[in-house]
Amino acid sequence: MTVVLVVDDVRALADQYAYDLKRLGGYETLVADGGRAALDVLSREAVDCVILDLEMPDLDGFEVLRALEDRGHHVPVIVYTGTGNYDRCVRAVQLGAYGFIAKDEPMERVVQDVARALERQRLTGEVAALRRRLEADSPLVGSSPAMQKLRDVIAKLAPISSPVLVTGESGAGKELVARELHRVGRNPKGPFVPINCAALPEHLIESELFGHERGAFTGAATLRRGTFEAASGGTLFLDEVGELPLAAQAKLLRVVEQREVTRVGGTRTISVDARVVAATNRDLNAEVAAGRFREDLLFRLNVHVLPVPPLRDRRSDIPELVERLLATTCDRFGVRPKRLSDGALRLLLAHEWKRNNVRELRNVIERLVIEAEGDVIGADDVPTDIAAGGIPGEDAASAARTYHERKLEAERQIVAEALERNGWHITRTAEELGLADHASLLKIMRRLRLSRD
Ligand SMILES: Nc1ncnc2c1ncn2[C@@H]1O[C@H](COP(=O)(O)OP(=O)(O)OP(=O)(O)O)[C@@H](O)[C@H]1O
Ligand SMILES: [Mg+2]
Repeated sequence: MTVVLVVDDVRALADQYAYDLKRLGGYETLVADGGRAALDVLSREAVDCVILDLEMPDLDGFEVLRALEDRGHHVPVIVYTGTGNYDRCVRAVQLGAYGFIAKDEPMERVVQDVARALERQRLTGEVAALRRRLEADSPLVGSSPAMQKLRDVIAKLAPISSPVLVTGESGAGKELVARELHRVGRNPKGPFVPINCAALPEHLIESELFGHERGAFTGAATLRRGTFEAASGGTLFLDEVGELPLAAQAKLLRVVEQREVTRVGGTRTISVDARVVAATNRDLNAEVAAGRFREDLLFRLNVHVLPVPPLRDRRSDIPELVERLLATTCDRFGVRPKRLSDGALRLLLAHEWKRNNVRELRNVIERLVIEAEGDVIGADDVPTDIAAGGIPGEDAASAARTYHERKLEAERQIVAEALERNGWHITRTAEELGLADHASLLKIMRRLRLSRD
């Protein structure tokens, strides 16, 4: 349903326009008899296009255009004027109007203009969405010294063909770095084939990596190319390589050394031309010492090591990451853009992000976007486990933590006791605590993770 709002202080004229737009263009219509009334309708209703009179007594068309600009409201506006004063129309266009029409123009023309304005609005929206997606695709966010160094090393390693070992904590961005190596590498159009060594059943690892000939084992009804072959001309990403069983490690070593595979059940060697990027969050030297990882394979893989710094070592990237994550999350969930208050950002800056680094931050942002009610996410919205996790060892921060923790504890106690007294009756408890309504109490309970059981 497309809604057109007609604004004119002469009510009869607005009604006539609305009637004709509906009849000729099939649009739903709304009318407003002044600038103020128009802004009022626009703040309440989803309007797709506005036809706006320039001369109105209370708030004229120019002021309406300015107000829309101030509010960041991007509805297409067609101004119309009875005076034939085109200077004024030009001024309106400079203020953001889509176009202008004279009041005596035939209605068919007006309907065409509206259709064109709507089409252009749709295209503008699509382009903006595409651009957001592209920016979201340009992966590594952050301009901290650590990230700059990482980018430099990626640029250096990308064009060469020897293996790279990407190390770093869980969720720090190892896979993103591997993809970036591929993207800026010699053949970004070639395949990027990720394989998670930890998720493969042991008996399938070999056939997964190297493929199998038809009838090689029960169930191998057809020939299957392995991921090494599939990645030929591109990158094979061996994620969690530290989890690979020893037997498979031996075979992997051979492939990396000789750059050729033999399919399971086959005899023919097939040369493969895939760049190997491996990743691990384990300390592979310790794994070697423990006898769980082959030293010769480690030596093959760790010619070039690319350590991805944990988020807590590049805290200055957090604001930028938050901004990007908020934009992409709101976009993905189709909600209005939200932003973080300074207080909330300070809490995120102080957190350790030890459990899952950037992934943890991403999950927190998703939660905040879903749970916070207004457009601005406040410190109170930040989950307690994040807000309480300051930087241990740093005096100010740990004082802040204990303060925050104690404050939360006190809050929890006050609310829990009130709930008990009222038999967990939400509305009565909200009243006793002097809260606006039961929704406010529910919000607080969610934040404090208070529930009956
Ligand atoms: N520098 C960064 N800029 C933008 N997003 C990032 C950055 N680093 C990580 N991310 C995002 O964080 C999430 C986790 O990253 P990724 O999967 O690459 O981590 P990982 O180190 O491979 O984790 P794991 O060890 O759990 O496999 C992804 O959504 C990724 O897009
Ligand atoms: Mg990963």
